[in-house]
Amino acid sequence: MIKKRLGNTDLYVSRIGLGTMGMSEFYGPTDEAEAVKTLHAALEHGINFFDGADMYGNGKNEELFKKAFSDRWDKVIVGTKFGFERDENGAMLGINGRPEYVKKSCERSLKLLGKDMIDLYYMHRVDPGTPVEETFGAMCELVKEGKVRYLGLSEPSGNTIRKANSMHHVAAVESEYSIWSTDIENTSLPVMRELGIPLVAYSPLGRGFLTGKIKSYDDFAPDDYRRSLPRFQKNNFEKNLVLLKEVEEIAKAKSVTPSQLALAWILNRGNDFFPIPGTTKIKNLLENIDAINITLTEEETGKLKSIMDSISGERYTAGEMKGINL
Ligand code: ATR
Repeated sequence: MIKKRLGNTDLYVSRIGLGTMGMSEFYGPTDEAEAVKTLHAALEHGINFFDGADMYGNGKNEELFKKAFSDRWDKVIVGTKFGFERDENGAMLGINGRPEYVKKSCERSLKLLGKDMIDLYYMHRVDPGTPVEETFGAMCELVKEGKVRYLGLSEPSGNTIRKANSMHHVAAVESEYSIWSTDIENTSLPVMRELGIPLVAYSPLGRGFLTGKIKSYDDFAPDDYRRSLPRFQKNNFEKNLVLLKEVEEIAKAKSVTPSQLALAWILNRGNDFFPIPGTTKIKNLLENIDAINITLTEEETGKLKSIMDSISGERYTAGEMKGINL
């Protein structure tokens, strides 16, 4: 696995990272012992860039990192996030960017991770009720206090990136980005490019859809979060499956899997893009890692985008979209 400098930081991260949300919540049943094995396998195969958040499993995700990595933190770079406030039973309370909450969240994350310093700390979403300067100002203080090394933003607008970056360099922006989610190309990405900020691309496999393994809404467990997403609703799902067929044909012609094609597409589209496919399984992890060796022609890259440009349904519900690109 190739390692590359993340923007202008001194973090040398694997070109493909690992998303870990599904290890702790949201995509059906979780299995902590299997998750630890997968995290260890990722590290053994050269992945050193792990992405989590305090809200995944309401603390369980950071606890998982501690379990897996406490004896090998020197080999690992972890990005975690704050901002979605939940109560002790896990109920969502909303987005909180107030400075005192930023400080409190960081203390909690440090404790759960069992670390003195977080490598990369992201604002998960912009709190519409708090000026971003206040939230980011509190994050800057965490850097001064030595609790956080680098600062990131998740799903920000270009305007937010500019404001934050004028206070302290934004080390990375994390946003959803894949063949079927390219909207940032017209919003935040031009600003990131101008300011030299790399993209950490989450849901690069379209939350599993682009792997070709999910064939119907009923494939999801009853509590799977994807049941709520517009693109997976019955009507949209069927239309999107027709598009996926074309992607699968391109993959077949190149003798790669659809998952590998989706990841290669991101890697080929920007050398400052770091996809973080999420998987709980070693087998899928190894398949995804092999995407590093795939080269796409410009024609193939363009064709894939044009197929998926006619995708049906937004990437989030209307309520969730309100928290994006603020
Ligand atoms: P997110 O960033 O939200 O985790 P993603 O990376 O686009 O989303 O997709 C994650 C989903 O793809 C997970 O459901 C994962 O399932 P497993 O945990 O069972 O692996 C699935 N996935 C990842 N890699 C896969 C692969 N190579 N083949 C099949 N499914 C895969």
